[in-house]
Amino acid sequence: MSKTRHFLTLLDFSSSELRQIIDRAIELKRARQTGTEQRRFKGKVLGMIFEKSSTRTRVSFEAGMAQLGGHAMFLSPSSTQLGRGEPIKDSARVISSMVDIVMIRTFGHDVVEEFARFSRVPVINALSDDYHPCQLLADMQTWVEHRGSISGRSVCWVGDGNNMCQSYINAARQFDFELRIACPPGFEPRDDLLAANADRVRIEHDPLEAARGADLLVTDVWASMGQEAEQKARARAFAQYQVNAELLAVAASDALYMHCLPAHRGEEISAELMDAPDTVIWDEAENRLHAQKALLEALLESAAG
Ligand code: CP
Ligand code: NVA
Repeated sequence: MSKTRHFLTLLDFSSSELRQIIDRAIELKRARQTGTEQRRFKGKVLGMIFEKSSTRTRVSFEAGMAQLGGHAMFLSPSSTQLGRGEPIKDSARVISSMVDIVMIRTFGHDVVEEFARFSRVPVINALSDDYHPCQLLADMQTWVEHRGSISGRSVCWVGDGNNMCQSYINAARQFDFELRIACPPGFEPRDDLLAANADRVRIEHDPLEAARGADLLVTDVWASMGQEAEQKARARAFAQYQVNAELLAVAASDALYMHCLPAHRGEEISAELMDAPDTVIWDEAENRLHAQKALLEALLESAAG
């Protein structure tokens, strides 16, 4: 078992380490805006394994490595032996002997864990069926930039108890906020996560009740990647779970709303809110770039000892 540091969930870093990453992300964003970015990843290579589609994750990791002087390598199942069944542990041993850091987007979270177990370099979870911790770094950065500390605030998740929702549960613990989850019965997040965080996370099936007074509303697609066959049934189950002007009206007067994207206007979020001129959703997307640069830096530094 390797002792290398990984980022598979938000619980792999302490609260203070996560806060440092957010602060550093804000610094790196400023450096990019002022043209003072240092090429601190010179000679470093990121291997990017994508078993699911991506726009933001690929572009942010690849652009981030290039902007800091490193290189990113896109690896998909169809163009590697992963697609022909080479075991994860063999792939992990080989790939990690040639690159400095790896990110992996896949289905089962056990795949990410298995890869990390056999990797000699840091591994980043770039989305699994269970968690999407990189998105939470960007979301928390966006909150801090617009509102300051999120500690003690109340967040309302609207929709599926999916990988994003489960990362919000971890974030509630690590960033110290209260989380109310408005999901249809039968679409709750995992019981063990709810039980372990019962002091600050609760289910409230009625979205209007859940959103009342909340400082932040967050949503995501009704059917995640891999659930395409359930799209129609889910559209029926989730019809009342939309972030829209009516829901925002019962939240705190200065509430923000976020969406990791890609979004389906008219489903989980109204077109009106997606296209509102003052939405922070585009900052949230851009912050993937800055937050992940800070994450890469922290992990590469930890690997250098
Ligand atoms: N939010 C997010 O991870 O987007 P992509 O699927 O486009 O990477
Ligand atoms: N829950 C979504 C997030 C996409 C970024 C999915 O897994 O497809």
